Amino acid sequence: MAPSAAATAFLYFTFWTLLISSAVSLTCSGQKFTKNQVFSTCLDLPSLPSYLHFSYDSSNTTLSVAFIASPSKPGGWVAWAINPKATSMVGSQALVAYKNSTTGLAVVRTFDVSSYSSIVPNNLSFEVWDRTAESRSDGSLAIFAKFKIPADLASGGEKK
Ligand SMILES: *[C@@H]1O[C@H](CO)[C@@H](O)[C@H](O)[C@H]1NC(C)=O
Ligand SMILES: *[C@@H]1O[C@H](CO)[C@@H](O)[C@H](O)[C@H]1NC(C)=O
Ligand SMILES: *[C@@H]1O[C@H](CO)[C@@H](O)[C@H](O)[C@H]1NC(C)=O
Repeated sequence: MAPSAAATAFLYFTFWTLLISSAVSLTCSGQKFTKNQVFSTCLDLPSLPSYLHFSYDSSNTTLSVAFIASPSKPGGWVAWAINPKATSMVGSQALVAYKNSTTGLAVVRTFDVSSYSSIVPNNLSFEVWDRTAESRSDGSLAIFAKFKIPADLASGGEKK
């Protein structure tokens, strides 16, 4: 069955494809958040390692996510990107978290990767709010955000 264009676009949300192939024993299910945020689903992602927690509210097409990863070195950063348009880096909407070395607080920035040569802080191409980052006791960083999934993509996603 050929998926519709909208469904295909939604599939590019990385976690969605991973959901299908995710393994049974999950590290992420034991992970807790300091503000007691609760997500309906979590995934152990194969790279880094990293973890993705998310809930999707289809009544208002709102996706809440928490992404956890450890920077490759102290003072490093972690990034989580979703690409509603294509599978390449270009068009990715990236959330980048790092620890401010002055304040010691984790902060998050958004990047719209509009081309390989221009990666600059920018507003995302869809609504994102409640963006926060948290520095965790094991040295990892968590990125929290809520997204409004555009209606054309969301309707495709619901067909899954
Ligand atoms: C969507 O619904 C959830 C659950 O009812 C709520 O927490 C969230 O604030 C809503 N988001 C918007 C953008 O209305
Ligand atoms: C770190 O925080 C300080 C104080 O708020 C601010 O002046 C500085 O620009 C921040 N640096 C980065 C890299 O975010
Ligand atoms: C992001 O959006 C805000 C509010 O619409 C605007 O004030 C700001 O200039 C925008 N920033 C960039 C980098 O486009």
